[in-house]
Amino acid sequence: MKKLNRREFVKTTTVAGVAAAAAPRALFGQAPAVMTKGVKPVVIASANGNASKDADGITCVQKAFTMITKGSDVLDALVAGVSIVELDPNQTGVGWSGLPNAEGVVQLDASCMHGPKKRAGAVAAIEGVRAPARVAQLVSDETDHHLLVGKGAQDFARSMGIKIEEGLINETARKQWLEWKRRTDPLHYLDPKKRAQAWYDTGLQMVREGLIDGEHFWGTINCDAVNARGEICGVTTTSGLAWKIPGRAGDSPILGAGLYVDNEVGAAGSTGRGEANLYGLCSFLIVEEMRRGAHPKDAAITALKRVAKNTIEKRLLNEKGQPNFGLSFYCLNAKGEYAGVAMYQSRYAVCTENGPQTLQTEALFEGRANG
Ligand code: GLY
Repeated sequence: MKKLNRREFVKTTTVAGVAAAAAPRALFGQAPAVMTKGVKPVVIASANGNASKDADGITCVQKAFTMITKGSDVLDALVAGVSIVELDPNQTGVGWSGLPNAEGVVQLDASCMHGPKKRAGAVAAIEGVRAPARVAQLVSDETDHHLLVGKGAQDFARSMGIKIEEGLINETARKQWLEWKRRTDPLHYLDPKKRAQAWYDTGLQMVREGLIDGEHFWGTINCDAVNARGEICGVTTTSGLAWKIPGRAGDSPILGAGLYVDNEVGAAGSTGRGEANLYGLCSFLIVEEMRRGAHPKDAAITALKRVAKNTIEKRLLNEKGQPNFGLSFYCLNAKGEYAGVAMYQSRYAVCTENGPQTLQTEALFEGRANG
Protein backbone atom coordinates (compact mmCIF):
# COMPACT_ATOMS: atom_id res chain seq x y z
CA MET A 1 0.00 0.00 0.00
CA LYS A 2 1.14 3.51 -0.71
CA LYS A 3 2.11 5.06 2.59
CA LEU A 4 0.03 8.20 3.11
CA ASN A 5 2.05 11.31 3.84
CA ARG A 6 0.78 13.67 6.53
CA ARG A 7 -0.93 16.01 4.02
CA GLU A 8 -2.75 13.17 2.19
CA PHE A 9 -3.74 11.57 5.47
CA VAL A 10 -5.24 14.81 6.82
CA LYS A 11 -6.99 15.32 3.47
CA THR A 12 -8.61 11.88 3.33
CA THR A 13 -9.70 11.90 6.95
CA THR A 14 -11.02 15.47 6.66
CA VAL A 15 -13.04 14.66 3.54
CA ALA A 16 -14.48 11.66 5.36
CA GLY A 17 -15.29 13.83 8.36
CA VAL A 18 -17.05 16.49 6.29
CA ALA A 19 -19.08 13.94 4.35
CA ALA A 20 -20.21 12.26 7.53
CA ALA A 21 -20.94 15.54 9.29
CA ALA A 22 -23.27 16.41 6.42
CA ALA A 23 -25.45 13.34 6.82
CA PRO A 24 -24.75 11.29 9.95
CA ARG A 25 -28.38 10.25 10.38
CA ALA A 26 -28.79 9.17 6.78
CA LEU A 27 -25.65 7.07 7.08
CA PHE A 28 -26.20 5.49 10.44
CA GLY A 29 -29.92 5.80 11.24
CA GLN A 30 -29.11 7.30 14.61
CA ALA A 31 -26.15 9.37 15.68
CA PRO A 32 -23.77 7.66 18.11
CA ALA A 33 -24.11 8.75 21.74
CA VAL A 34 -20.50 9.92 21.97
CA MET A 35 -18.51 11.37 19.10
CA THR A 36 -14.82 11.04 19.88
CA LYS A 37 -12.97 13.75 17.98
CA GLY A 38 -9.54 13.56 16.47
CA VAL A 39 -9.00 9.81 16.68
CA LYS A 40 -6.22 8.47 14.49
CA PRO A 41 -7.85 5.73 12.40
CA VAL A 42 -6.56 2.23 13.03
CA VAL A 43 -7.40 -1.22 11.75
CA ILE A 44 -6.28 -4.23 13.81
CA ALA A 45 -6.55 -7.92 12.92
CA SER A 46 -5.11 -11.35 13.46
CA ALA A 47 -1.85 -11.90 11.52
CA ASN A 48 -3.66 -13.32 8.48
CA GLY A 49 -4.99 -9.78 8.01
CA ASN A 50 -1.58 -9.03 6.51
CA ALA A 51 -0.99 -12.37 4.76
CA SER A 52 -3.66 -12.95 2.13
CA LYS A 53 -3.66 -10.42 -0.73
CA ASP A 54 -6.18 -9.45 -3.37
CA ALA A 55 -5.42 -9.25 -7.12
CA ASP A 56 -3.80 -5.84 -6.54
CA GLY A 57 -1.52 -7.18 -3.80
CA ILE A 58 -3.53 -5.46 -1.04
CA THR A 59 -4.01 -7.12 2.36
CA CYS A 60 -7.12 -7.07 4.55
CA VAL A 61 -5.92 -4.36 6.94
CA GLN A 62 -4.62 -2.18 4.08
CA LYS A 63 -7.90 -2.47 2.20
CA ALA A 64 -10.00 -1.66 5.25
CA PHE A 65 -7.76 1.26 6.28
CA THR A 66 -7.80 2.79 2.80
CA MET A 67 -11.59 2.53 2.56
CA ILE A 68 -12.08 3.98 6.05
CA THR A 69 -9.83 6.97 5.41
CA LYS A 70 -11.65 7.63 2.14
CA GLY A 71 -14.94 7.83 4.05
CA SER A 72 -16.46 4.35 3.69
CA ASP A 73 -18.64 2.99 6.43
CA VAL A 74 -16.29 1.25 8.89
CA LEU A 75 -18.11 -2.10 8.76
CA ASP A 76 -18.28 -2.04 4.94
CA ALA A 77 -14.51 -1.53 4.95
CA LEU A 78 -13.88 -4.39 7.37
CA VAL A 79 -16.12 -6.81 5.46
CA ALA A 80 -14.32 -5.89 2.23
CA GLY A 81 -11.01 -6.44 4.00
CA VAL A 82 -11.77 -9.85 5.51
CA SER A 83 -13.28 -11.03 2.21
CA ILE A 84 -9.70 -11.00 0.84
CA VAL A 85 -8.85 -13.65 3.42
CA GLU A 86 -12.14 -15.55 3.02
CA LEU A 87 -11.60 -15.84 -0.74
CA ASP A 88 -7.90 -16.80 -0.59
CA PRO A 89 -7.77 -20.49 -1.69
CA ASN A 90 -4.57 -20.96 0.34
CA GLN A 91 -6.36 -20.12 3.58
CA THR A 92 -7.32 -23.35 5.31
CA GLY A 93 -8.75 -21.59 8.37
CA VAL A 94 -11.11 -18.98 6.95
CA GLY A 95 -13.80 -18.96 4.27
CA TRP A 96 -14.78 -21.64 1.74
CA SER A 97 -11.28 -23.20 1.53
CA GLY A 98 -11.16 -23.80 5.30
CA LEU A 99 -10.70 -27.27 6.77
CA PRO A 100 -14.05 -29.11 6.88
CA ASN A 101 -15.90 -30.82 9.71
CA ALA A 102 -15.63 -34.52 10.60
CA GLU A 103 -17.88 -35.43 7.68
CA GLY A 104 -15.84 -33.45 5.16
CA VAL A 105 -18.37 -30.62 4.98
CA VAL A 106 -17.22 -26.99 5.21
CA GLN A 107 -19.35 -25.14 7.77
CA LEU A 108 -18.51 -21.49 8.35
CA ASP A 109 -19.16 -19.06 11.22
CA ALA A 110 -19.05 -15.25 11.15
CA SER A 111 -20.25 -12.22 13.10
CA CYS A 112 -20.12 -8.46 12.81
CA MET A 113 -21.00 -5.51 15.02
CA HIS A 114 -21.62 -1.92 13.95
CA GLY A 115 -20.84 0.39 16.88
CA PRO A 116 -22.59 3.59 15.72
CA LYS A 117 -25.71 1.77 14.48
CA LYS A 118 -25.73 -0.52 17.52
CA ARG A 119 -26.56 -3.42 15.23
CA ALA A 120 -25.10 -6.89 14.93
CA GLY A 121 -25.46 -10.00 12.81
CA ALA A 122 -24.02 -13.49 12.71
CA VAL A 123 -24.24 -16.85 10.97
CA ALA A 124 -23.16 -20.23 12.28
CA ALA A 125 -22.53 -23.56 10.53
CA ILE A 126 -23.48 -22.08 7.17
CA GLU A 127 -22.65 -24.26 4.13
CA GLY A 128 -22.14 -23.49 0.44
CA VAL A 129 -21.04 -19.84 0.73
CA ARG A 130 -17.52 -18.59 0.11
CA ALA A 131 -17.46 -15.51 2.33
CA PRO A 132 -19.79 -15.63 5.38
CA ALA A 133 -18.88 -12.20 6.84
CA ARG A 134 -21.05 -10.52 4.19
CA VAL A 135 -23.94 -12.82 5.12
CA ALA A 136 -23.49 -11.83 8.78
CA GLN A 137 -23.61 -8.17 7.69
CA LEU A 138 -26.84 -8.84 5.79
CA VAL A 139 -28.35 -10.46 8.91
CA SER A 140 -27.47 -7.23 10.74
CA ASP A 141 -28.80 -4.92 8.02
CA GLU A 142 -31.83 -6.81 6.73
CA THR A 143 -33.32 -8.71 9.68
CA ASP A 144 -34.42 -8.13 13.23
CA HIS A 145 -32.23 -11.05 14.35
CA HIS A 146 -28.65 -11.41 15.48
CA LEU A 147 -27.86 -15.04 14.61
CA LEU A 148 -29.00 -17.42 11.87
CA VAL A 149 -27.69 -20.99 11.75
CA GLY A 150 -27.34 -23.91 9.37
CA LYS A 151 -29.88 -24.30 6.61
CA GLY A 152 -31.81 -21.22 7.73
CA ALA A 153 -28.67 -19.13 7.34
CA GLN A 154 -28.05 -20.62 3.90
CA ASP A 155 -31.65 -20.01 2.77
CA PHE A 156 -31.39 -16.43 4.00
CA ALA A 157 -28.10 -15.93 2.10
CA ARG A 158 -29.70 -17.29 -1.09
CA SER A 159 -32.67 -14.95 -0.67
CA MET A 160 -30.23 -12.03 -0.40
CA GLY A 161 -28.63 -12.96 -3.72
CA ILE A 162 -25.54 -14.72 -2.34
CA LYS A 163 -24.42 -17.59 -4.56
CA ILE A 164 -24.85 -21.01 -2.91
CA GLU A 165 -22.50 -23.77 -4.15
CA GLU A 166 -23.30 -27.37 -3.21
CA GLY A 167 -20.34 -29.47 -2.02
CA LEU A 168 -18.05 -26.45 -1.85
CA ILE A 169 -14.62 -27.64 -0.69
CA ASN A 170 -11.04 -26.81 -1.60
CA GLU A 171 -8.94 -29.71 -2.93
CA THR A 172 -6.15 -29.17 -0.35
CA ALA A 173 -8.65 -29.15 2.50
CA ARG A 174 -10.34 -32.28 1.15
CA LYS A 175 -7.02 -34.16 0.98
CA GLN A 176 -6.14 -33.09 4.54
CA TRP A 177 -9.55 -34.26 5.72
CA LEU A 178 -9.01 -37.66 4.03
CA GLU A 179 -5.65 -38.01 5.82
CA TRP A 180 -7.24 -37.12 9.15
CA LYS A 181 -10.03 -39.61 8.52
CA ARG A 182 -7.55 -42.34 7.62
CA ARG A 183 -5.72 -41.70 10.90
CA THR A 184 -8.75 -41.64 13.18
CA ASP A 185 -11.13 -44.18 11.61
CA PRO A 186 -14.10 -43.21 13.80
CA LEU A 187 -15.58 -46.73 13.66
CA HIS A 188 -12.84 -47.86 16.05
CA TYR A 189 -13.93 -45.33 18.62
CA LEU A 190 -17.37 -46.35 19.74
CA ASP A 191 -17.01 -44.45 23.03
CA PRO A 192 -18.02 -40.87 22.04
CA LYS A 193 -15.73 -39.27 24.63
CA LYS A 194 -12.68 -41.25 23.48
CA ARG A 195 -13.61 -40.59 19.87
CA ALA A 196 -13.82 -36.83 20.43
CA GLN A 197 -10.42 -36.87 22.14
CA ALA A 198 -8.92 -38.97 19.32
CA TRP A 199 -10.28 -36.55 16.71
CA TYR A 200 -8.74 -33.58 18.53
CA ASP A 201 -5.40 -35.30 19.26
CA THR A 202 -5.03 -36.46 15.66
CA GLY A 203 -5.63 -32.92 14.45
CA LEU A 204 -2.92 -31.57 16.77
CA GLN A 205 -0.55 -34.36 15.68
CA MET A 206 -1.08 -33.26 12.07
CA VAL A 207 -0.14 -29.72 13.13
CA ARG A 208 3.05 -31.02 14.82
CA GLU A 209 3.95 -32.93 11.66
CA GLY A 210 3.49 -29.79 9.59
CA LEU A 211 0.63 -31.32 7.59
CA ILE A 212 -1.70 -28.50 8.56
CA ASP A 213 -0.86 -24.96 9.55
CA GLY A 214 -1.16 -24.60 13.34
CA GLU A 215 -2.66 -21.14 12.91
CA HIS A 216 -5.40 -22.68 10.74
CA PHE A 217 -6.44 -25.42 13.17
CA TRP A 218 -8.94 -23.03 14.71
CA GLY A 219 -8.61 -20.72 11.72
CA THR A 220 -10.32 -17.36 11.99
CA ILE A 221 -9.69 -13.73 11.25
CA ASN A 222 -10.89 -11.00 13.55
CA CYS A 223 -10.65 -7.41 12.28
CA ASP A 224 -11.68 -4.24 14.13
CA ALA A 225 -11.34 -0.56 13.35
CA VAL A 226 -11.98 2.96 14.53
CA ASN A 227 -12.21 5.88 12.11
CA ALA A 228 -11.33 9.54 12.60
CA ARG A 229 -14.78 10.24 14.08
CA GLY A 230 -14.40 7.50 16.69
CA GLU A 231 -16.80 5.11 14.94
CA ILE A 232 -15.95 1.53 15.83
CA CYS A 233 -16.91 -1.74 14.13
CA GLY A 234 -15.68 -5.32 14.14
CA VAL A 235 -15.96 -8.57 12.23
CA THR A 236 -14.86 -12.16 12.89
CA THR A 237 -15.03 -14.96 10.32
CA THR A 238 -13.83 -18.57 10.36
CA SER A 239 -14.18 -22.12 9.13
CA GLY A 240 -13.96 -23.06 12.81
CA LEU A 241 -12.13 -25.94 14.43
CA ALA A 242 -10.74 -28.43 11.92
CA TRP A 243 -12.65 -31.75 11.89
CA LYS A 244 -15.28 -30.44 14.32
CA ILE A 245 -18.43 -32.39 15.14
CA PRO A 246 -20.95 -31.32 12.46
CA GLY A 247 -23.05 -28.45 13.77
CA ARG A 248 -20.39 -27.21 16.18
CA ALA A 249 -20.41 -23.41 16.41
CA GLY A 250 -17.31 -21.85 17.93
CA ASP A 251 -16.82 -18.47 19.54
CA SER A 252 -16.66 -16.49 16.27
CA PRO A 253 -20.44 -16.13 15.65
CA ILE A 254 -21.28 -15.52 19.32
CA LEU A 255 -21.55 -11.86 20.29
CA GLY A 256 -19.47 -11.23 23.39
CA ALA A 257 -17.20 -14.22 22.67
CA GLY A 258 -15.56 -14.01 19.21
CA LEU A 259 -16.42 -10.32 18.89
CA TYR A 260 -17.77 -7.44 20.90
CA VAL A 261 -18.07 -3.74 20.05
CA ASP A 262 -19.32 -0.83 22.10
CA ASN A 263 -18.98 2.43 20.22
CA GLU A 264 -18.36 4.41 23.39
CA VAL A 265 -15.62 2.09 24.60
CA GLY A 266 -13.92 -0.07 21.94
CA ALA A 267 -13.83 -3.44 20.25
CA ALA A 268 -12.34 -6.85 20.92
CA GLY A 269 -12.25 -10.09 18.96
CA SER A 270 -10.49 -13.41 19.07
CA THR A 271 -8.78 -16.27 17.29
CA GLY A 272 -7.79 -19.61 18.77
CA ARG A 273 -9.56 -22.26 20.83
CA GLY A 274 -13.17 -21.09 20.69
CA GLU A 275 -14.45 -23.24 23.52
CA ALA A 276 -12.05 -21.60 25.99
CA ASN A 277 -13.22 -18.17 24.91
CA LEU A 278 -16.90 -19.08 24.86
CA TYR A 279 -16.78 -20.17 28.49
CA GLY A 280 -15.66 -16.70 29.59
CA LEU A 281 -17.29 -14.49 26.91
CA CYS A 282 -13.92 -12.80 26.76
CA SER A 283 -14.52 -10.14 24.10
CA PHE A 284 -17.33 -8.77 26.26
CA LEU A 285 -15.10 -9.01 29.31
CA ILE A 286 -12.31 -7.08 27.53
CA VAL A 287 -14.65 -4.29 26.44
CA GLU A 288 -16.02 -4.03 29.99
CA GLU A 289 -12.46 -3.87 31.37
CA MET A 290 -11.71 -1.06 28.89
CA ARG A 291 -14.92 0.69 30.00
CA ARG A 292 -13.46 0.69 33.52
CA GLY A 293 -10.36 2.42 32.15
CA ALA A 294 -8.01 -0.48 31.40
CA HIS A 295 -5.66 -0.16 28.42
CA PRO A 296 -6.53 -2.70 25.65
CA LYS A 297 -3.43 -4.73 26.53
CA ASP A 298 -4.28 -4.99 30.23
CA ALA A 299 -7.94 -5.73 29.46
CA ALA A 300 -6.92 -8.66 27.24
CA ILE A 301 -4.42 -9.98 29.80
CA THR A 302 -7.24 -10.03 32.37
CA ALA A 303 -9.33 -12.13 29.96
CA LEU A 304 -6.45 -14.56 29.29
CA LYS A 305 -5.84 -14.96 33.03
CA ARG A 306 -9.54 -15.78 33.42
CA VAL A 307 -9.26 -18.42 30.67
CA ALA A 308 -6.14 -19.90 32.29
CA LYS A 309 -7.91 -20.06 35.66
CA ASN A 310 -10.93 -21.79 34.12
CA THR A 311 -8.77 -24.36 32.32
CA ILE A 312 -8.57 -27.22 34.79
CA GLU A 313 -8.94 -30.38 32.67
CA LYS A 314 -5.66 -32.27 32.39
CA ARG A 315 -6.10 -32.86 28.66
CA LEU A 316 -6.02 -29.07 28.14
CA LEU A 317 -2.92 -28.40 30.27
CA ASN A 318 0.78 -28.69 29.49
CA GLU A 319 3.43 -30.02 31.86
CA LYS A 320 3.60 -26.63 33.61
CA GLY A 321 -0.15 -26.69 34.28
CA GLN A 322 -0.76 -23.94 31.71
CA PRO A 323 -3.31 -24.08 28.85
CA ASN A 324 -1.90 -26.15 25.99
CA PHE A 325 -3.77 -24.20 23.31
CA GLY A 326 -3.51 -20.85 21.59
CA LEU A 327 -5.98 -18.04 22.16
CA SER A 328 -5.44 -14.45 21.00
CA PHE A 329 -7.33 -11.18 21.34
CA TYR A 330 -7.18 -8.06 19.17
CA CYS A 331 -8.53 -4.95 20.84
CA LEU A 332 -8.76 -1.23 20.38
CA ASN A 333 -10.39 1.54 22.34
CA ALA A 334 -12.27 4.70 21.33
CA LYS A 335 -9.04 6.72 21.59
CA GLY A 336 -7.42 4.51 18.94
CA GLU A 337 -5.11 2.70 21.38
CA TYR A 338 -4.75 -0.96 20.45
CA ALA A 339 -3.13 -4.26 21.39
CA GLY A 340 -2.72 -7.82 20.16
CA VAL A 341 -2.43 -10.17 23.13
CA ALA A 342 -2.09 -13.96 23.16
CA MET A 343 -1.82 -16.88 25.56
CA TYR A 344 1.61 -17.58 23.98
CA GLN A 345 3.47 -15.15 21.77
CA SER A 346 1.99 -14.83 18.33
CA ARG A 347 1.62 -12.10 15.70
CA TYR A 348 -1.05 -9.64 14.70
CA ALA A 349 -1.68 -7.17 11.88
CA VAL A 350 -2.31 -3.47 12.13
CA CYS A 351 -2.70 -0.61 9.68
CA THR A 352 -2.34 3.05 10.64
CA GLU A 353 -1.24 6.18 8.82
CA ASN A 354 2.21 4.53 8.82
CA GLY A 355 0.95 1.67 6.64
CA PRO A 356 0.43 -2.02 7.36
CA GLN A 357 2.60 -3.81 9.90
CA THR A 358 2.78 -7.30 11.37
CA LEU A 359 3.73 -7.11 15.04
CA GLN A 360 4.45 -9.50 17.90
CA THR A 361 1.63 -9.88 20.39
CA GLU A 362 2.02 -9.44 24.12
CA ALA A 363 1.85 -12.87 25.75
CA LEU A 364 0.51 -14.18 29.06
CA PHE A 365 2.95 -17.13 29.15
CA GLU A 366 6.40 -17.76 27.71
CA GLY A 367 6.96 -20.60 25.27
CA ARG A 368 4.56 -22.21 22.85
CA ALA A 369 1.09 -23.66 23.19
CA ASN A 370 2.00 -27.20 22.25
CA GLY A 371 5.74 -27.06 22.76
N1 GLY B 1 -11.95 -19.40 17.26
C1 GLY B 1 -12.47 -20.16 16.22
C2 GLY B 1 -13.13 -21.38 16.64
O1 GLY B 1 -12.83 -21.95 17.68
O2 GLY B 1 -14.00 -21.81 15.90
